[in-house]
Order: sequence, then structure tokens, then C-alpha cells
Amino acid sequence: MIASLDEIHRDALAEIATLDTEAALEDFRVRYLGRKGRLTVVSAGMREVAPADKPAAGQKLNEVREAITSALEGKATALVAQRDAQAFAGIDVTLPGRPLPQGALHPLTQVLDRAVTILRRMGFAIAEGPEIETEWHCFDALNTPGDHPARNESDTFYFSNGKLLRTHTSSVQIRSMETGPPPVRIIAPGSAVRRDEIDATHLSAFNQLEGLYVDERVTLADLKGTLEYFFRELFGSSTELRFRPHFFPFTEPSLEVDLKLHAAGKTARWIEIGGCGMVDPAVFAAVSKTRGDDAYHPEQVTGFAFGMGVDRLAMIEYGIPDLRLLIENDVRFLRQFA
Ligand code: PHE
Repeated sequence: MIASLDEIHRDALAEIATLDTEAALEDFRVRYLGRKGRLTVVSAGMREVAPADKPAAGQKLNEVREAITSALEGKATALVAQRDAQAFAGIDVTLPGRPLPQGALHPLTQVLDRAVTILRRMGFAIAEGPEIETEWHCFDALNTPGDHPARNESDTFYFSNGKLLRTHTSSVQIRSMETGPPPVRIIAPGSAVRRDEIDATHLSAFNQLEGLYVDERVTLADLKGTLEYFFRELFGSSTELRFRPHFFPFTEPSLEVDLKLHAAGKTARWIEIGGCGMVDPAVFAAVSKTRGDDAYHPEQVTGFAFGMGVDRLAMIEYGIPDLRLLIENDVRFLRQFA
């Protein structure tokens, strides 16, 4: 038995040296170490070995099995190393990698993020509403009756089912009051759409940032203080803003807010940044009607609302002379804000 083990040992090592594929290694393993392999067959002969010779035979068997197994493993490792080396042939793996082009946030996203951060710090929570809105939320509940010009087909995009693309984010005011009792302190960033003629300060699809604060004894002074603080946090303490009396169906009194735009190469000019005012009691009455309770009783609560153009915030922040630059996606323009 010892003799045949020696022979197997010799044959096996000689053959392993000649193997050059993983398939050949596997074939070898089956022929020598498999259930009907040479070594297994010989080891079955242990039963016939005289008891006195058994320890020596057993030890030899183990030695040979280990020698073959480790030679096989060594060869397998060598084959993998060889394959890897071939895969890398001609490639200098020490060269530095190519940098991936890195994107950056759009200037609109950047100002909006800053604006939202400031308002959240002031206690406003973010609220959302659908961009495809009902006439009720966009107009009726906001005290804007059917014969108001804003509802004209030439001003608004309607769907055949009577819904429309919201013309302002003020619809979120209604949705917030319908879903929860006062106090309400929310901001609603989002897109709005109008059939506007597109020019340097108007886009037909634009972004607004709505705000609403309803509680007991909220006053116009709170509104002005809130907006002044907000704009000075956003654009710096020397920011010039002015309030002009205006009209909105859903606020009374109503104001428009202008900010001074200092654009490169142009004389500074005032641009309208948004509207605001004290929530009209008719709005509270409409909300009370859908809620079916007195939580927003017009005698009980007051509130202010504001809505501003985010695209125009970006104009002010970066001194951009024309809104259209923001949607043309010219990387030479966008790269300046990266
Ligand atoms: N929704 C108005 C607009 O789009 C702005 C506004 C919001 C005015 C809230 C008053 C209060 O022009």
C-alpha cells in the first residue's frame, strides 16, 4: 500500500505541474480525490493492512492527500494570478483615475434652499399641494369669483375635467386650513403656471414660495416685520424693500413687495417680488364651510399670507438680468453658480 501511495504521489505532482486551465484542475481533482479517484480507491485498501502496519499506512495516506491537495491549491492560485496579469496586460494601473464631471445645484435650487432654511428657522413648516388643482382651491375659496379675469380661459390652463394648472401656490393656503386647525404657520414652495407673455421678468411656468400665518391677533405689523426680517436674512441687512398698496381678492388689505435689483452693467431698479396681505374674512368663511366647524371663524382668527416669485429671488441674489437664462440650461451660464 505504501508503495502505491508513493506512486500516486509522484504521478500526481508531475501531472499538476502540466495543468494549465481551471477545467483541467477540476478534472484532475475528480480523478485523484473524487469518490472513485485513485487515492480514494487505494485508501479503501486500509481494511486489508495488518493492524501493526495501520498507523504507518494511515500517516502516509494523510501525507499524500495533503501534499496533493496543497499542490492543487497552489496551482489554482497561480492560474488566477496568471489570468489577472493577462487582463491587465498593457494597462498602467498606477496612472491616476480620470475625474468624473461633477454637477452642481441649479441657482434656483440654491436660493430656494436658503429661503426655506430661513423661514423654517422662523417657525414655518413646509406644506404641499397638487399642481393640478380644483377651481375651488385655486379660485373660489380664495374669494375669486367666476367672473374674475384671472379665471378667464385666456389666462389659465384648464383640463377637460374642470381642473386646472394652479396659477399660484395660494391654493395651498386653503388646503392647509382645510386639513388642520389654527394656529397655522406654513410655507409652500412650488410651481405655478399662467398664460403669460414670456419676457425678461415673466415665465409661463414659474416658481413661487407661499406663506401663511393664522392665529389669534395676527396683525399687518407681524406681516411687515416677518418679510423685512426674511429678506434681510436672505440678501443682507442693507436690502432695500418697499411695500405698495395693491389688490388681491383673498387679502385685505393687500400689498405688493418690491426689492431693489442691482444687476451687473445696469442701473439699479425696483422689481416686484411678490404679494401679501391680511387674509380676507371671506377666505376664512369659505374654509369654515368645507370644514364644517368654527375653527376659522372670521371673528376669531386673523392671519397674513404672502407669495413671492422664487425665480425673481434668484435674479436678485445673483444679479441676473433676464429670467429666461434660468431655464435655457446653458452650462456656460449655470457653471457660474456651481
Ligand atoms: N397669489 C398671489 C400671486 O400669485 C400672491 C399673493 C399670495 C398675494 C398671498 C397675497 C397673499 O400673485
